[in-house]
Formats: sequence, structure tokens, C-alpha cells
Amino acid sequence: MSDAPSPAARIRALPVPRLRADLLAWYDRARRDLPWRAAPGAPADPYAVLVSELMLQQTTVATVRGRFAPFLDRFPTLAALAAAPLEEVLHAWQGLGYYRRARALHACALAVMAEHGGRLPLTTAGLAALPGIGPYTAAAVAAIAGGEAVVPLDANVERVLARLLGLERPAASARPELRAAAQALAAPARAGDLAQALMELGALVCTPRRPGCLACPWRADCRAAASGAPERFPPKAELRARRTCHATAFLLRRPDGACLFRRRPLTGLLGGMIELPTTDWLAEPDELAAAERLAAPAEAAWQAVPGRVRHLFTHIDLGIRLLRAELPAATAPSAMADERLWVPPERFAELALPTLTRKLLRHAGLRW
Ligand code: ADE
Repeated sequence: MSDAPSPAARIRALPVPRLRADLLAWYDRARRDLPWRAAPGAPADPYAVLVSELMLQQTTVATVRGRFAPFLDRFPTLAALAAAPLEEVLHAWQGLGYYRRARALHACALAVMAEHGGRLPLTTAGLAALPGIGPYTAAAVAAIAGGEAVVPLDANVERVLARLLGLERPAASARPELRAAAQALAAPARAGDLAQALMELGALVCTPRRPGCLACPWRADCRAAASGAPERFPPKAELRARRTCHATAFLLRRPDGACLFRRRPLTGLLGGMIELPTTDWLAEPDELAAAERLAAPAEAAWQAVPGRVRHLFTHIDLGIRLLRAELPAATAPSAMADERLWVPPERFAELALPTLTRKLLRHAGLRW
């Protein structure tokens, strides 16, 4: 048996008031000016905080920095966002990826208008009850915009706390300890600054590969720093392999150059996005002839575009072959079902096209 203290004992032993004070003093010196951040001491705009927290979940600060202000110019209030069609919101989300968050934001805005008179509830419980708002977003908005004594756990904050405690298990399997440590640190005084200070420490100092311990306000209390190899904490989880999938996409063009698209179902991966007609995603590659027979959007002289397009989703490694065809001038539009969209390349920029679809269009030599 090791006689090292248990994680619970380590949490109880944390010098919490000093840790808070040192962290906040560091934040006051080192905080970045970010477009969604209120000036020191000023109250935060709840809507801006909600938008920024959703944008920042799977996108870097550098990217969000450039996208946040245009999004707020276009949808300056929650009411304006709720009044906009989802398609416009998805379009404004372009470049941020992971469109599920844009749909969540829109659904949340509609619910706040319908159920809360247009005012975001600013408690963890109130926020978590809204559609599309998970525990992290609820805690982050409640702390930053509502001043609730809660410390949201994102990957940066988890890493900082795992190092402070010297946890020897991957963060994903040490959530109870990480939550307990976060809760021990939370306080109502400057709750929003405390939450952002932890995020900032993880982003600027306690970085994954080369932590800058010399600049860290918590260095004296940090078990990972004391080990001499802080970058080894927390240990990495085994990587889960991606599932390989295969599909065939169809690029059908009319004589006027317009291409045929369809909209994906609202739920699931890339829900609600516009894409080229595509076969199901299969574990094994299909014969091209079978794909054409089963899923081609029209009878036509389909030609294979040489090569494949590869796209990595979090859990899927997708390889897509592309078949292309031109419709003869005489084809009657009524042969096409209603939900299909014909769009000329000069209007592609107006569509919320996922990266995968853009790759396919470029693979076919289209430029816009
Ligand atoms: N990452 C997530 N939320 C953030 C915030 N409010 N500031 C900086 N980085 C963040």
C-alpha cells in the first residue's frame, strides 16, 4: 500500500483561501482582453457569455476571437437570435464547426423567449433545464454571468486541478475528485473571475505539453510541479480507435451549372446541414454500381471522380467516393422531390456547407 494521501484527503488539505487569492491576483495581471469578456469589475452580458461559451467548447480562442463579433452583430440579442431561421444561424456559424452547438443555441433562445419572457435564467439548475445546454455550459454561464459559486470543468480546468492534486488517473476516470476539488475552490465572491481565471491558467500557463510552472501562482502547492514532470499529469487515457466508414456521394449538375443538394435530418451527425446526396455510411465499401443503383438521385451517366475524399469525425474515419453526372437539358424538374435544392456554385457561400461537403465539391474541381 502506498502511504500517499488519497485524492479526497488531498482535496481537504488544499489551502483554499490562499489558492483563490493567488489565482485571482494572477488573473488580474495576466487576463487576456477577449471580446466576450466584461471589463474588470463590470457585469457580464449573459447572452454574450452564452454565445461565447458555446463557441469555445470545441473551437480555439483564436478562431472564436474572429467569429464572435460578426455573430453578435448579426444576432445582437437573444430575441434576435430566436427570431432568425435556423438556416441563418447555421450559416453564421460557418468556420466554427460542430454545428450541433448552433442548433443548441437556437433551440435555447426559442425556449427562453417562450418560457422565460426572453431573460436567460442565470443559475446552473435553470440553465441546465434549457434545451441544448449541458452541465459545462450551465455552470460556466451561471458563474460568469450569474455570479453563482460554481467552477465549470472544461478540459483546461480539469488539467489544472488534476495537476494541483497530482492525480495518477486519466481525467475522464477521476471526475468525482475533479468535481470535488472544483467545488472546494468555488466561492460567491468574484465567482465569474475565479472560473475564468482557472480557464485562463490552463490556457496560458498550465498547458498540456510544456507547462510554464515558473509563471504559475499555484506552483508552491502543486503536486505535479513538485514531481518534476508536470506534463505527465494527468496520464493520458488510451485512445479510442475511430470506426472506419465508406460512402459514395453524387454530384449532379443541371445544364445551367446548378448542383443538387439535400438537407440532412435535423438529428444526428451534421443534423440539418446541406450536403450532396450520399449513400448510407457503411462498414465496407460498396460496389460503385450498387451504390448508384440504390442511392443515385437520378438516372444519368454517372462517372467516378478518381480518388477518394477522407474526413475524420470524432468517432468516424469516413472515406467517400464521388460520382458525377450532368443532367441532359430536357430533364423535367418535376422528376425531383421537393426537399431537393439546386444551387449554382456562385451561391455556395450562402449555404451552411459542412467541411466534408466542401471537400467533395473541391475534389470535383468546383471553386466558389
Ligand atoms: N474557454 C471556455 N470559456 C472561456 C472563457 N470564458 N474565456 C477563455 N477561454 C474560455
